Amino acid sequence: MTTRIGDTAPNFTAQTTEGEFDFHQWLGDSWGVLFSHPADYTPVCTTELGAVAKLKNEFARRNVKVLAVSVDPLDSHHAWIKDINETQACTMNFPIIADADRKVATLYDMIHPNADSTAAVRSVFIIGPDKKIKLILTYPATTGRNFPEILRAIDSLQLTANHKVATPADWNEGQDCIVVTAVSDEDATRLFRKGVRRVKPYLRYTPQPNR
Ligand code: BEZ
Repeated sequence: MTTRIGDTAPNFTAQTTEGEFDFHQWLGDSWGVLFSHPADYTPVCTTELGAVAKLKNEFARRNVKVLAVSVDPLDSHHAWIKDINETQACTMNFPIIADADRKVATLYDMIHPNADSTAAVRSVFIIGPDKKIKLILTYPATTGRNFPEILRAIDSLQLTANHKVATPADWNEGQDCIVVTAVSDEDATRLFRKGVRRVKPYLRYTPQPNR
């Protein structure tokens, strides 16, 4: 099944390193990041899980729960976590799904057979509190992900969910945003009290509205 932006995130129950749960119930009212790994005891994955553990407060501050998935059994995950903690100087603080039967990997199309017939690629799904998919990223096994970029994208998603703005290239929290084209000039002046800078009829900037 192909999962696309705007679809409801497929639900599942899974065994994880923090117990068995129903994905949607576990998410509750939070945002979610579901991200896959090719396999346990692989070097790039080890660094990625350590990086995410160290960013736990940044995800929590944005009301985001993170959940990893790796196509190996639970005992393998628990033993690997010891290595992650040791080598990445962290304490693992979020669950990893034990997906030995590839149920979750298949549901989210995380196995790309022309890349590898058994290991998952590096997928990222950002899910909103309405359980809809907001963003999808796919990286090959040999390219570790940039988690500050994922936090930056979450900032944009959370802002644009509540305000009639979009965020330009390389935007970061605190920088000017773009007024969406569906908003007329007249409504823009009324909606964005900090001001609107009109470069072209379709390119109008305003200071970030929620700061
Ligand atoms: C890694 O996580 O290091 C990795 C996994 C599969 C292929 C290449 C690298």
